[in-house]
Amino acid sequence: MSIVYIKNNKGGVGKSWLTFQLAHGLSLIEITEGRKAKVLIVTTDSQNNILDFALSKEIELGEGLESWVAKGNGDLIRLRDNLEYIPLNSSNFTASFKNKIKSTLYTLKEKYDYIFIDAVPVAGLDKEFEDIADIIIIPGFMDIVTLQGINKILETVNINKVKAIVPNRFNNSAYEKKLLNNFREVIDGTKILLTSPIPQTALITNLISKNKTVWETSNKRIEPIQEVLGEVLEVILNGE
Ligand SMILES: Nc1ncnc2c1ncn2[C@@H]1O[C@H](COP(=O)(O)OP(=O)(O)O)[C@@H](O)[C@H]1O
Ligand SMILES: [Mg+2]
Repeated sequence: MSIVYIKNNKGGVGKSWLTFQLAHGLSLIEITEGRKAKVLIVTTDSQNNILDFALSKEIELGEGLESWVAKGNGDLIRLRDNLEYIPLNSSNFTASFKNKIKSTLYTLKEKYDYIFIDAVPVAGLDKEFEDIADIIIIPGFMDIVTLQGINKILETVNINKVKAIVPNRFNNSAYEKKLLNNFREVIDGTKILLTSPIPQTALITNLISKNKTVWETSNKRIEPIQEVLGEVLEVILNGE
């Protein structure tokens, strides 16, 4: 089905958080009668933040993505029903890793409905991931520097793959609102979905501190955020 690459060169914009929310959201959806989507998250971040978001207990890592690339097997950590994770042990990527990462992901794609790539820009694997991705999703802050970065991405990637831009950690300041409005004018002429902004909010911080996703609370106040993420899920489901 699809490989989804969550991309932004900037740290802290919510790539890992968004990856986990979207991946979990998809894993809850029945894609054919009686069968929910099987979802995998892989990372090139040896901090393995996805585990911090997903699990309350520290777990001992065995062999991660490096081993999958070298030998075709390794750790596969269950995060939720239908949602698995391949961690990364070290960010020293060998030439062989770079050569084989694409074919490794293609092989994994046969076993999953969706694979999410939570990448760190410093890994230098950007080109590989852009090539292999069916869908690129860009989370970002609404500030000048991040927007310049996003514009740069839009100039250099295969624009047809970029399906959604998700303003995140939004503080609703007049300045951010103005930047978002200006940016909306730029995006309006394209097929890319620019979602409503996801606020920087204690609601989300609380969920994170309990290792929960937005799909694991009955708090009504989280509904607008579920709606935003739901729009992105729809874009992913409608796919390639
Ligand atoms: N909408 C949000 N509201 C509150 N905290 C958020 C939100 N999105 C992300 N965070 C927090 O911001 C920090 C950075 O997010 P993260 O996903 O780790 O960014 P990245 O992977 O892009 O570096 C994390 O501590 C995360 O818990
Ligand atoms: Mg991250």
